[in-house]
Amino acid sequence: PALPALQGKTLLITAGPTREAIDPVRFLSNHSSGKMGFALAEAAAKAGAKVQLVTGPVNLPTPVGVERIDVQSAQQMHSAVMQRASAADIFIGCAAVADYRVAEVAEQKMKKTSSNDELTLTLVKNPDIIADVAALSYQRPFTVGFAAETENLASYAKDKLQRKKLDLICANDVSSKEQGFHSEHNAITAYWQGGELALERQPKTALATAILQLIAQRIQQQQPL
Ligand code: PMT
Repeated sequence: PALPALQGKTLLITAGPTREAIDPVRFLSNHSSGKMGFALAEAAAKAGAKVQLVTGPVNLPTPVGVERIDVQSAQQMHSAVMQRASAADIFIGCAAVADYRVAEVAEQKMKKTSSNDELTLTLVKNPDIIADVAALSYQRPFTVGFAAETENLASYAKDKLQRKKLDLICANDVSSKEQGFHSEHNAITAYWQGGELALERQPKTALATAILQLIAQRIQQQQPL
């Protein structure tokens, strides 16, 4: 296989958007298609890894050999991940998790009223899934994040690497339609403590293999044989 170092390893990967309910028929979400996370899952499975893919709602087939766990909200994704994180050698957070959810989900469909031209939704913070994985003190997987940014890519990504205590972060410029959300293509710059590597724009399938190669290299650097 192309990635011998991943043979027999267990990878836990998140993909796609989350949906935060407003009422029974409405939600807050984002443009993630799941393609990047699914490409990582497929490439890892082809390399002989055991892959668990926790995904928000997407329109993609499950890659061959991958165990898929479907979730909707950030809270559901958090609990699906935390149940499995300690059994994983590598965790990759590729999902675009909603940072906030609606404080009180309406039980019935909210009605438009003639008296109110404005409507205010109160949001509360969701748990930070990847920060909770990285904070595990026992059986902590090698933890890789993504940072989707529209400006200040390098500084925001490096800040997330430190703040969330990640081993590696893939900074993803999502300001262009030619890459990032929904596109078949993507480009990232990876940052870790004391190093960085730019991976040029290419199909997400090829980029996934390059990212996994870098992860395997970084693990070998951290724990030399
Ligand atoms: O799905 P595609 O259409 O293929 O698009 C791919 C992508 C652009 C979604 C992907 O490459 C990407 O950049 N994913 C991360 C998107 C994101 O939410 O970034 P962020 O900067 O908001 O979050 C930083 C990191 O924290 C991410 O690893 C994220 O998964 C994680 N996070 C964020 C919030 C939260 N509550 N819990 C988390 O674990």
